[in-house]
Amino acid sequence: MGKSQLKGTVKIGGSKNASLPIMAASLLTDSECRIHKVPDLKDIRTMIGILECLGKTIVFDNGTLIINSKKNKSFVAPYRLVRTMRASFCCLGPLLAKRTKAKVALPGGCVIGPRPVDLHIKGLRQLGAQISIEKGYCLAQAKRLEGANIYLGGVFGSSVLATANVLMAATLAEAETLIEHAACEPEIESLANFLKKMGAQIKGEGTPTLKIKGVKSLSGCEFEVIPDRIEAGTFIAASLATKSSLNLQGADASHLRSVIDTAKRIGADINIDGNSSISVKPAKRLNPVNITTLPYPGFPTDLQAQFMACLCLADGISLITEKIYPDRFMHVAELNRMGASVQRNGPYAIIEGKHELFGAEVMASDLRASAALVIAALSAKGRTQVARVYHIDRGYEKIEDKLKKLGAKIERRKQ
Ligand code: EPZ
Repeated sequence: MGKSQLKGTVKIGGSKNASLPIMAASLLTDSECRIHKVPDLKDIRTMIGILECLGKTIVFDNGTLIINSKKNKSFVAPYRLVRTMRASFCCLGPLLAKRTKAKVALPGGCVIGPRPVDLHIKGLRQLGAQISIEKGYCLAQAKRLEGANIYLGGVFGSSVLATANVLMAATLAEAETLIEHAACEPEIESLANFLKKMGAQIKGEGTPTLKIKGVKSLSGCEFEVIPDRIEAGTFIAASLATKSSLNLQGADASHLRSVIDTAKRIGADINIDGNSSISVKPAKRLNPVNITTLPYPGFPTDLQAQFMACLCLADGISLITEKIYPDRFMHVAELNRMGASVQRNGPYAIIEGKHELFGAEVMASDLRASAALVIAALSAKGRTQVARVYHIDRGYEKIEDKLKKLGAKIERRKQ
């Protein structure tokens, strides 16, 4: 129920997109893995379900995952689970490397646009896997993978989960693997650090060139997941749109440089205290800016919708260019229902800033679009009802509790 003035400190949780491939990496060993600061989200629960199908026993309590292995192990990741979460596909590489065969359902369609897995398959084939697609499943097998030089660049640049899949598989391959045009996201660096704690030999994490020297086996380890930079960026957008001063506790500012730069251009005054606290003081007037989404360290596509919600209130015309998922604009029509003026043309969105948005009934289409609609609702006059809000539970832990603590007038209703 709009026009909320937010105030105070919000604690940023562990990263969903770092946790998921790290959980899949536990398939590379039979010994125990303990992973801390894992957010309690729908997607994490889905990955737990998939790992249990693949012979893992898992205890998840208070942000800590304790993962162990059962004797009998299946190598099939079923469609009923994979179809609910594409990231499940990154079980393919570790399964193949550790168990010499894998059968993983192909992830279906996605509302944010076409999301092929050709780079995943290309990279694993170059490591020597025989891969075929049958009845909607990817079947892969290889007695022992062999190191190779792999170029992993795609039409839209690097791929985060293809890099994760090939990196994990290469850790147990014969000899050395070189991955060029690898993703540089902090989530990949976190995954590499986890694998190194298991005994993997990796160099170049966080750069486009990864060097992996294969080892015979990997052991369990204890690890802490990095903070969620997309959750942090979402609260920076909320602070801008509601013109509220916020303090983000536990965020890693070094992962947010492009986001902080963009927020400053819009008019925010941002202070970084040490490396785990960010304070945001928004300006009274929001500047229009141009944003282009790019692979890390560029501006993240997962914050495009949330920052569009802010720019709907800016003092002028902004342009957003979506270079990762050119169709990722399902939120545009819903924002326009709230009185925004956004025109979409292919991968571009032209936003004519308005003085005010108005509450309305809107529908969430995907995880980040739902966060954008909540931000717009917090800054809108009157009451907004966001339907299909279950999308938000995939990536934000107890978001309405966090917002309520900051003074938002928000409640969840059963539909
Ligand atoms: C990761 O997805 C994130 N998911 C996504 O976040 C994020 O939007 C995306 O990276 C880009 O940053 C997780 O980490 C779990 P990509 P991923 O492979 O790895 C094309 C969220 O909201 N491509 O880097 O699946 C692809 O179509 C989610 O938390 C190919 O062409 O994305 C896209 O245009 C949504 N062939 C581009 O590359 C391939 O084989 C980047 O995709 C793979 C990808």
